[in-house]
Amino acid sequence: METVNTDDIRKRIEELRAAIAENNRRYYVENNPVISDYEFDMQMKELADLEKAHPEFASPDSPTGKVGSDLAERSSAGDGTHEFAQFPHKYPMLSLGNTYDISEVEAFVERARKILGTSFTFCCELKFDGTAICLTYRNGRLDRALTRGDGAIGDDVTVNVRHIRNIPERLIGSGYPDEFEIRGEIYMPYKAFDRLNEERLRDEDQPFANPRNAASGSLKLTTPEEVGHRGLECTLYHMLGDNLPFTTHDQALKAAAGWGLPVSDKRKICTDISDIEEYIGYWDTARKALPFATDGIVIKINELAYQKELGYTAKFPRWAVAYKFKAEQALTRLLSIDYQVGRTGAVTPVANLEPVLLSGTTVKRATLHNAGQMQLLDVRVGDYVYVEKGGEIIPKITGVELDRREPGTIVPVFPDKCPDCGTTLVRDEGEARYFCPNSDGCPTQIKGKLVHFISRKAMNVLAGDATVEQLYNLGYVRTPADFYDLGMEKLLTLEGWKERSARRLLDSLEASKKTGFGHVLFALGIRYVGETTAKSLAEHFRNIDALMKAGRDELLSVEDIGEVIADSILEYFSKPSHISEIRRLEHAGLKFSMDEDSGPASSALEGLTIVISGNFSISRDEMKELITKNGGRNSSSVSGKTSFLLAGEKPGPEKVRKAHELGIRVISEDEFMGMLPASHTPDGTADHADYGSLVTQPTLF
Ligand code: IVH
Repeated sequence: METVNTDDIRKRIEELRAAIAENNRRYYVENNPVISDYEFDMQMKELADLEKAHPEFASPDSPTGKVGSDLAERSSAGDGTHEFAQFPHKYPMLSLGNTYDISEVEAFVERARKILGTSFTFCCELKFDGTAICLTYRNGRLDRALTRGDGAIGDDVTVNVRHIRNIPERLIGSGYPDEFEIRGEIYMPYKAFDRLNEERLRDEDQPFANPRNAASGSLKLTTPEEVGHRGLECTLYHMLGDNLPFTTHDQALKAAAGWGLPVSDKRKICTDISDIEEYIGYWDTARKALPFATDGIVIKINELAYQKELGYTAKFPRWAVAYKFKAEQALTRLLSIDYQVGRTGAVTPVANLEPVLLSGTTVKRATLHNAGQMQLLDVRVGDYVYVEKGGEIIPKITGVELDRREPGTIVPVFPDKCPDCGTTLVRDEGEARYFCPNSDGCPTQIKGKLVHFISRKAMNVLAGDATVEQLYNLGYVRTPADFYDLGMEKLLTLEGWKERSARRLLDSLEASKKTGFGHVLFALGIRYVGETTAKSLAEHFRNIDALMKAGRDELLSVEDIGEVIADSILEYFSKPSHISEIRRLEHAGLKFSMDEDSGPASSALEGLTIVISGNFSISRDEMKELITKNGGRNSSSVSGKTSFLLAGEKPGPEKVRKAHELGIRVISEDEFMGMLPASHTPDGTADHADYGSLVTQPTLF
């Protein structure tokens, strides 16, 4: 008998849970997935299968039992998104069970037939590939629009939704309930998507990976007018309410269309599996001619009474299932491989391909990810390879057609030297990737670090990759401190630069000196020190000298800092060149310490009773202190006496619900900070202006 090592299974389950949590965050919060939907769904399926076979490892926190959350993370100054007020959903907003396998659709039909034991119909619809929205109409007017959030609480994006062309502010006709919800998808048609990405590339901004990410990113902008310019559209597909006067889902949608709501006319009532299969078969091809993205078909039980009978699991309705289309693949020949260095020094193999048409565009280049992946695929130059466009903007090689391997194909040899600076590459134990260790001397890495330094979440300086490239090539800027030595004279020698553009850059460099210590620390680009870690370090150590002096143990005592980060920080500060760079930046006027609040207390919150809930950029105790310092009173429960609920990240659903019931305002940390005089906010920094993203964009394609 085969022995199963339960330890390995437990490990795999933990691994999958961590990977899924991270991929969920990248998908829903950052709008920047790194794996394809298919790969994600397969991770989820593997985890669900393992948990089913090993119930002893079940956990209430497992992503298999939860809906992925799109709730906005705490705002980072000037990143174009902010914390939205969050409200609970009246009815949980769930996801759909999905499959790529038609036999599972057959099983769904059979299961429903068995449970219901009577005849019923299905409503088949397109699965729109965008971001879910829940609209509430009260007395014929749009009252509120919430994102799915974590399924229980959503972000209030009403102001933005009012700028979406086909969402009516007022209903037409008659017979609509006083209050009802209608849910659907907000998406960006291909045309609007292409226009937006062209604009972003022109502005040296990172383009969106796909229309879905563009839609969810746009929906969370802080500038409602801009949302209006993004060309978003909406299709509604699910009505909810107490005592709705309909017996079928189809009737509800028909009525909604009559009230002027955007409903798709592509749905079809099916009576059996062969009808359903026909619908799927038709749209598998026909969808390619649609002006917007769809990623599958949704099959719903049409009769509302039967929907009710089948009910819900914690995550999905039992009365609906999604059949998803696999990403399109193309087969083409691998002509050669380039090796490109990124800003962290990682070397990526990039395939040059015989041009091939894939989902409407010609693909000539695709990533092979890393040396490990190349080995795994056993790819050779001259092979026929499968190319796919996943969630990423860069197509990738997903397989080799071994049956078509011809004699004379060449086994690729991963270079042992950096293709940019010639330094011998290193591969850390267990790493699939090779790195160029010459982080301070390799031109690509230097330029990458400069771009990171000025990026929006770091120093937020108004310049893009092309400007950095010019400044580097002219020898004007080699380290971040050189930016602050730039003057009008030098800038006017840049190609195409006039006094106005130069002034803009100089002003923005000057403004960047007000950036808070946490952002400055992030801007330094210490390996593994991301935005959140930089913030924790800044709050803990208060100034750069204390941080530089910190030993390993003290670093490890800081929240969220583990051995890898601690060692990386120690290594960074062990280099004299880094210390002298920091001194130069300090001399230029950048903030290397937290602004301590020493001023007198304000009376900005005099007479207000405030309830706080959730997590904030400062600790809850600090938040309470801030309230009392400014004349306010803290209270632990929401009641009629509460002036407002200050809701941070993940507020308690009960508190939010209660506030909602009593008509008490729920305000975000940003709004709250705006109520205080500047010197009474934790670091007194002004908000960064929204200059758009300058995040490094791979220069490959
Ligand atoms: S019905 C209770 N119908 O796909 C479930 N969802 O992957 C109600 N979606 O969360 C959802 N098109 O955001 C439904 N015609 C359609 C859809 C659709 C797209 C989205 C929706 C859902 C996700 C699941």
